[in-house]
Amino acid sequence: MADHVRSYVVADLPGDGIGPEVVAVARDLVDAAGSRFGFTVDWQHCPLGAEYYLRTGEVLPGAEFDRLRKTDAILLGAVGSPSVPPGVLERGLLLRLRFELDLYINLRPARLRPGVVSHGAGALDTVVVRENTEGLYAGAGGTVHKGTAFETATEESLNTRAGVERCLRYAAGLARRRAGKMTLVHKTNVLVHAGDLWQRVAREVADAEGVALDYAHVDAACLYLVDDPGRFDVIVTDNLFGDIISDLGAALTGGLGLSPSGNLNPDKTGPSMFEPVHGSAPDIAGTGKASPAAAVLSAALMLDHLGEPEAAAALDGAVDAVLGAGGQDTTAGWAKALATELAAAEVTR
Ligand code: IPM
Ligand code: MN
Repeated sequence: MADHVRSYVVADLPGDGIGPEVVAVARDLVDAAGSRFGFTVDWQHCPLGAEYYLRTGEVLPGAEFDRLRKTDAILLGAVGSPSVPPGVLERGLLLRLRFELDLYINLRPARLRPGVVSHGAGALDTVVVRENTEGLYAGAGGTVHKGTAFETATEESLNTRAGVERCLRYAAGLARRRAGKMTLVHKTNVLVHAGDLWQRVAREVADAEGVALDYAHVDAACLYLVDDPGRFDVIVTDNLFGDIISDLGAALTGGLGLSPSGNLNPDKTGPSMFEPVHGSAPDIAGTGKASPAAAVLSAALMLDHLGEPEAAAALDGAVDAVLGAGGQDTTAGWAKALATELAAAEVTR
């Protein structure tokens, strides 16, 4: 019988601005890793983003969504443009995908890599596990008496027992594979209802999974991330706190240009989505200056999730090697240097 090569269907959703430039580099590296490590990727181009919306008036038509649902993973570049009003693509595309594909974990590693100067008191090596479907992002709330002096706007934070527990379980599993410890970040001294739920469930899950549990209020956590980064390993937190502290983690480890993310459906009932945290950066789009590092690191998270840990480590290691040698100033320079490093990576199986 012929050997079966492992094969994955991945949606290539480059989006806007620098998205297409950085995703092209990531795709080539994934293909190169595939030939080294024994798998193939069937890339399915998905045209969504600001340009698509301006041309068609639609953000996420059903047919495109159905195609995305059937893939094994989605590699997204960036969506957004100054010509689209705020919220349209964020809620209509990104958050819809997060919610409807049940991507309930937003995984954001922040590690100080070789050759990168820290702004903090030491080397940070954390993974922020951000709850990704609830909290203040859920969309509960509204506006009444609009346009009057009594206009009232509310945003409610939704925290379900099931949603909090599954997030904490994922974080605890990750903590077991890392340093055996997780830190809950919240604001239990003020947000007493949600905070109480998170804290009680965190205690239960930590005990059940046999990991140590630490706690920090979100304001203090910002201070410690800068002044005492060694106290953190896995950080688990709600949606908005995770959004904010992961940008701080990025700033402390070389900036958004080096920050990958995975929007995960850990139960694998559908595709997970991987995206660099930087946006579409319209100011540098087309200049050839965009760094593809965060897109490549996001592709590495994707390969790990798909069950290709050696290829994932090879891509991650290639970024470290290029950074350690001083980095590159252009997209093309990065692409070439990363390909050289990847070609030198060892195949262990
Ligand atoms: C991020 C972004 C998004 C978020 C926006 C664009 C909706 O800031 O991925 O961190 O707030 O989650
Ligand atoms: Mn953000």
